[in-house]
Formats: sequence, C-alpha cells, structure tokens
Amino acid sequence: MSTQVILPRIMQVGENASQEIPNVLASLGCKRPLIITDKIMVQLGYTSRIQDHLANHMIFPDVFDDTVPEPTVSSIQAGVDKARNGDYDCIIALGGGSPIDSAKAIAILAKHGGKMQDYKFPRVVIESGLPIIAVPTTAGTGSEVTRFTIITDEKSDEKMLCVGIGFMPVAALIDFSLTLSLPSRTTADTGIDALTHAIESYVSQKANPYSDSQALSAMRLIGPNLRRAYHDGSDKQAREAMMLGSTLAGIAFSNASVALVHGMSRPIGAAFHVPHGLSNAMLLPSVTEFSIPAAPERYADCARAMGVANEQDSAEQANQKLLEELVALNDELNVPTPAQFGIKRQAFFDLLPTMAEQALASGSPNNNPRVPKADEVMEIYKQLW
Ligand SMILES: [Fe+2]
Repeated sequence: MSTQVILPRIMQVGENASQEIPNVLASLGCKRPLIITDKIMVQLGYTSRIQDHLANHMIFPDVFDDTVPEPTVSSIQAGVDKARNGDYDCIIALGGGSPIDSAKAIAILAKHGGKMQDYKFPRVVIESGLPIIAVPTTAGTGSEVTRFTIITDEKSDEKMLCVGIGFMPVAALIDFSLTLSLPSRTTADTGIDALTHAIESYVSQKANPYSDSQALSAMRLIGPNLRRAYHDGSDKQAREAMMLGSTLAGIAFSNASVALVHGMSRPIGAAFHVPHGLSNAMLLPSVTEFSIPAAPERYADCARAMGVANEQDSAEQANQKLLEELVALNDELNVPTPAQFGIKRQAFFDLLPTMAEQALASGSPNNNPRVPKADEVMEIYKQLW
C-alpha cells in the first residue's frame, strides 16, 4: 500500500524566512500579489514590512485586511470580490490560521466561482485557485502546509471542513521570528492546537509511515517547548522549536487527517465562539482517555516523544503519564473550562445532540482509533463540566 503526500512546492524555513518573499515570488514567476491578512497584522507593522521588502523589487501589492477570526462565508465575500476584480497572479496569506484559511477559500472562489458550501467535504477540491504564499505568524494551525480550510456557515452555525489539493499553498515561509511578540494566550491556544495535530495524526486510522515520522518529530519539538514559549515569549529556541513543530504537525495531519478532538471541537467553536485551539485543549484529555484503549501502544509512543515517559515505561505507565501531562499542561497554560470561558451550562447541554451530530458528520471521528457513537460523543462533551 502506498500513500500520496501533498506538500507546498517551496518551504523557506528559519529565522527571517519571511524576508525571502521577493525571491520566492520570483521563483514562482509571480509579480502581482494581493496580501490577505487582518487588521492586527497591519497595526503591528507585519504587513508594511512585507510591502517594504517587495517594494525594493518593484512589486507593490494591494492589501485586503478584513479577514476575521474563525472566518465565515460572509466575512470572506469582500475578499472574493477584490480578488476577482483585481489583476492578481497570487495571494500572500499573512497571519494566524484565520487569514490563511480565509485566503485559501478566497483563492478558490475568486477563480472558480460558486458558493463556499459547494466546496465542503465530502467534495474533494482538485481545482487550483490563485497560488498562495502562506506566511504564518502563529505556531500554529499548520494551515500553511495543509490541504484544508475551515469556513463557518453562519446560517447553520456549521464549521465546514473543505478538503483538497486546491487548498494547498504553493509556498510556505516558516519564520519563527514573526511569533516572538505573540501574546501568551495565543501561544498557548495555537501551541496546544499544534500538539493536538501531532497526536491525532499519529493515532489516526489514516496514519502512515510518512505522517508518523512527521508527527513524532513534531511531538519531540512541541513537548518540551510549549511551556517555555508560553512563559517567555522571547525565548528564541523555544519559539523556533514550536514553529517547526507546528509545521511538521501540519504536514502530518494534512496527510493522515485529524480525529475525534477536532471533530468535537468544531461544533463548540461554531456555537460558542471558542477559539479553535482552546476548544481542542478543553477536549484533549477526555478524548485521549476515551481513545487509549483502542491504541495503547500508539499513545505510549506519543508520551515518549513528548518526553513525559521513557523507554522503560510500559504502555500502561506511559499512557497514565500522558493523561497526567495533558491535564497538567491545561492547568499551567490556564486553559479555561467551558464555564470559565462563559458558556452557559444549560445552553451547552441543550445543544449536545446537535453538536454530536455535527461532530460525526464532519468525518473526523471516523479516523479516531476508537470510533464513538452519538451517545458516547455526548458523554465526552458532558465530561467537560
Ligand atoms: Fe487544529
């Protein structure tokens, strides 16, 4: 059996990689970029720095900075109109997961038309949109190296998973120096998201030797460095490890898929506007506990790769240490419970059947080593209280 691996054509990795953007555009033959980003990137000067580098090469990109966190169908519409009506030959997607996910959707809709709902899973999008050069500023969603985007349908409050080579950026500039000033909350949320990608792709039923190697490397990088980056954002070594770990975790899950945590996380995010990494963090300990019996050796490998168990530990001991670590990590990184986040218990419980249905419909739970039924999904949701 073989596995098809899909990657960006160019990855520029390391300190100040984003400054190589003129060279990357030149090697792709692109001259008329549209930068898609958000207001924060503009305010912090990240956008103007890229514009300055490009101006030195006589490239003067337009900017669309109206992307929003957890993008929706309507939030990307102005970007689609701008991309469609301008004479652009590529998109520079700058920011965290939301601007990059927005750019992926805009790149396809601008070129091929239709509604975002037309492109949601189980359709596989093989069309190529405007080429995307992704510059992530968090570590991270891994969106710079995945063939996925997530756009919320605000009419149904559904987070639509969209899949296919059409969403894979043509280039990714993986520059940890862009993460040095990230606030600690964002560092924690995006870092746990990356850790979840690595764990889920390693235990996924679609795991393969290629994704395993990326996932284990990601866990080795993220395990010892997430707390360091959270407590001291200026720790360059920790930031570098987190950035590379996040990208490798992205490669792993783009090629092996995520599983139950992500399947259950999207409905919480859509209904209660919990940031993606945070809803993953809330779920990760409970889902791991539910899943371990179906893949004890795999989860033990995760514990060892993260550095919380050693080779002498039995699978059972390693799994116990993994569960303790995931709880301790949430504690140290101040991950709120749903109640602390401000979710009303009654509203959450009223929505359990809908959330369970949406979680299962996303397809991700089918990749889990232990595939839950709807009542088991609801049971796990209840454990968060
Ligand atoms: Fe994620």
